[in-house]
Amino acid sequence: MDDVILRMRGIGKEFPGVRALDGVDLRVARGEIHALMGENGAGKSTLMKVLSGVYPHGSYSGEILVDGEPARFSGVRDSERAGIAIIHQELALIPQLSIAENIFLGNERTRGRGVVDWGRTAGEARALLRRVGLDEDPTLPVASLSVGRQQLVEIAKALSKEVRLLILDEPTSALNEAESDNLLELLRELRGQGITAILISHKLGEVTRVADTITVLRDGRCVETLAMADGGVDEDRIIRGMVGRDLDHRYPERVPDIGEVRFEVRDWTVDHPTQVGRRVVDGVGLTVRRGEIVGLAGLMGAGRTEFAMSLFGRSYGRYVSGTVRKDGADLRVRDVGDAIAGGIAYVPEDRKELGLILDDDIRRNLTLAGLRRVSGRGVIDSAREAVAAEEMRGRMRVKSRDVFQATGDLSGGNQQKVVLGKWMFTEPDLLILDEPTRGIDVGAKYEIYLIVQRLAAQGASVLLISSELPELLGMCDRIYAMCEGRITGELPRAQAGQEPLMKLMTRTRA
Ligand SMILES: Nc1ncnc2c1ncn2[C@@H]1O[C@H](COP(=O)(O)OP(=O)(O)OP(=O)(O)O)[C@@H](O)[C@H]1O
Ligand SMILES: [Mg+2]
Repeated sequence: MDDVILRMRGIGKEFPGVRALDGVDLRVARGEIHALMGENGAGKSTLMKVLSGVYPHGSYSGEILVDGEPARFSGVRDSERAGIAIIHQELALIPQLSIAENIFLGNERTRGRGVVDWGRTAGEARALLRRVGLDEDPTLPVASLSVGRQQLVEIAKALSKEVRLLILDEPTSALNEAESDNLLELLRELRGQGITAILISHKLGEVTRVADTITVLRDGRCVETLAMADGGVDEDRIIRGMVGRDLDHRYPERVPDIGEVRFEVRDWTVDHPTQVGRRVVDGVGLTVRRGEIVGLAGLMGAGRTEFAMSLFGRSYGRYVSGTVRKDGADLRVRDVGDAIAGGIAYVPEDRKELGLILDDDIRRNLTLAGLRRVSGRGVIDSAREAVAAEEMRGRMRVKSRDVFQATGDLSGGNQQKVVLGKWMFTEPDLLILDEPTRGIDVGAKYEIYLIVQRLAAQGASVLLISSELPELLGMCDRIYAMCEGRITGELPRAQAGQEPLMKLMTRTRA
């Protein structure tokens, strides 16, 4: 057999008004890990949807060769039959169903006449879970698993279809470091078993670590293909391919202009939803000054998101106690409406669930939280709304035709810019950002940092939650660390570093 498992030649794909792919060539060697990189909207996901039959033959131009044979998939089922499986940017598992049911969904293990053979289902599921290193009971609902584990279930599902070419679209963007490492290790192991992988990722570190080959896309075209074995391929080299120039700094320079304490949170406590006596947030106290960017470091499960959501009035019926003061006066936040009225904005980490109405256009998503800014006497002024939305789209550099495009049609990273824009639009006094640059390309990250810094320079207070320590260190004036729901320490920028922070982030109760 040829050593090339996949060739894509001259692939073109158009959406109304957008040329997403323009003559892309891709060559993937058998048994390698091939990374696909490029800025948000470059066409990575679209190319993989073409390959996996999400966009069927006839809806794109160019040709696909699998094992040297022309492949014309009319749907995902077809590509699966050829041993290709795709794990999309947004997980596609059904939370209410069990792990085993998800693995064999649409591919049920039956005992003749369509009757599901539960014994076989559970047995085979267990074997597949072992292959991906998951020691879970296959009858558990998927909803009870962390995102990292759900990701592994997706891979187990792909393995159940005897995958030879596994496509992963930003698999680690929602994972913590340990989970990411675990996943990358699994990819290596699968490579050892002869499974080829195409990995889309914005994380330069992980790509340089596991990839054998890197193909860079820009504006729907293939810019270059780099072989790691050739040497000299480092992060800066990849950035140059992606952005078309060198990027001297990852974080913009800033001279902070910090004023008096604007927000003060005291003894903030959130009870665990089901376990009596357990607290997900436990007596948190912190301050944020005018013009200050404050970081919140912590490992997954430290309680940072729960803290932020409850502060924003989104506690989902959990019992919350504690006080927030703004400019020295008590601020009562019973719900999101109160929070917005109090000048608080929260950019959630899970954008799909909390951030956007995907069917709606970009304009409405951008203005939704600040409609009063474009309304007169309670009536939305459409013209003003469109102008304001267009202005914000420009500021956030959302790559789209115009503001009337459906938000769901945007690339993953561009959807995230819309969420951020939505909350910037409210002109908040306190902007809480929860993992704001997840899935964002390096160039756009810089833009987002600039926007956040500009907001701070105008006097706003910023609370930045991030799992990337370099991001916290590059952006924040002061950093708090959380562990098991509590603040375990606070470091000014000058004293903060990866190591002291890590120590605080892992300081569990004795
Ligand atoms: N269903 C669609 N309808 C219209 N335009 C689309 C659709 N899907 C993608 N596009 C457009 O095609 C271009 C490429 O998008 P794609 O999702 O492939 O980017 P990407 O490289 O995966 O980016 P990201 O890193 O942000 O996920 C973008 O301009 C996007 O807006
Ligand atoms: Mg994408």
